[in-house]
Amino acid sequence: MAAAAGGAAGERRIMCVGLVCLDIISVVEAFPAEDSDTRCLSQRWQRGGNASNSCTVLALLGAPCAFMGSLAPPGPPLSKCGAEWGGTPAPAGHRADPPRHSTGPSVFLPPASTLGAPPARRSRLPARPRRSGGGPQPALCPPLSFIAADFQRRGVDTAHVAWQPRGAVPCACCLVSAASGSRTIVLHDTNLPDVTARDFERVDLSRYRWIHFEARNAAEQGAMLERVERHNRAAPPERRVRTSVELEKPREELLPLMGRGQVVFISKDLARHFGYQSAPEALRGLRGHIQPGATLICAWAEEGADALGPDGQLVHSDAFPPETLVDTLGAGDTFNAAVIFALAEGRSLQDALTFGCRIAGRKCGIQGFDGIV
Ligand code: FRU
Repeated sequence: MAAAAGGAAGERRIMCVGLVCLDIISVVEAFPAEDSDTRCLSQRWQRGGNASNSCTVLALLGAPCAFMGSLAPPGPPLSKCGAEWGGTPAPAGHRADPPRHSTGPSVFLPPASTLGAPPARRSRLPARPRRSGGGPQPALCPPLSFIAADFQRRGVDTAHVAWQPRGAVPCACCLVSAASGSRTIVLHDTNLPDVTARDFERVDLSRYRWIHFEARNAAEQGAMLERVERHNRAAPPERRVRTSVELEKPREELLPLMGRGQVVFISKDLARHFGYQSAPEALRGLRGHIQPGATLICAWAEEGADALGPDGQLVHSDAFPPETLVDTLGAGDTFNAAVIFALAEGRSLQDALTFGCRIAGRKCGIQGFDGIV
């Protein structure tokens, strides 16, 4: 596994905790009618998931970063590739759906290539196996190998990926409309347990300067944030870990996490779900949910973004729309990562917000993430 992007050895990293999935993206001329049969303009695979996308952006911005989330060894009919990648064939009953948010410990399955390696390296994602001469290719699980290779090519540290004993690699079918840049996502991630607080206990907090949580399993993530808070109370200021939380999905059970992060990102979707018609309105309405001294941020697509700082001041940045909206998939994750990057560098909230809007705007003008900096 490569060292994290851009960082000197020992430099404290930014970690993003949340989803990684395979995005199968079809770029269509215009959004198709239901029950129609059309050709797309192009199709590609992309490593997706909010936390995973934010890692991509952080890496492109040059921040040493790490991803923590769940992955599963491949199951039947590709169980052979479990042996290739993890040395552990899929367990019997692998396809049974476990509860969505398991609270039990996840099992770390060390990849075959690192079995027997020192503990610090054991749970890293394996490198893409090398082709051996002109001989037959080993049976690989394509989504997992794609995700592993992509994390590696970006230099994202994956030491804390939690290998689950059951469940499937999450996958999303995404339609990106060339006419509008809109993205329509259908995600399957319901049978892979999320990272637990017990998994998170293995994280050496002294190696991180910022930990960002994509809100998913609120109770477990609340306990993870509590652990960071305990660490911070005992640490000198320069060793403290800053935290942020993203609430994107309008799911009631995620709301308690608003009161935990030092920086809280809420999505336009969530704000509208609560009846707010603009970012400033949402910030004023939801400020009571954040902890004292926290910052609340809300991006609102073409209207830019607003933030409420620890001092209660409202700041705003206009959007930086590209000439043509090409692909908005992951634009929010890009915004969050760019804001975190700037704040972690010690820039002001206004600067960070403007930087976030600028980088997110660039992202909307291109397919994928290459070219945002
Ligand atoms: C974009 C994204 C995609 C993924 C989906 C998951 O924000 O993370 O990469 O398919 O959202 O909700």
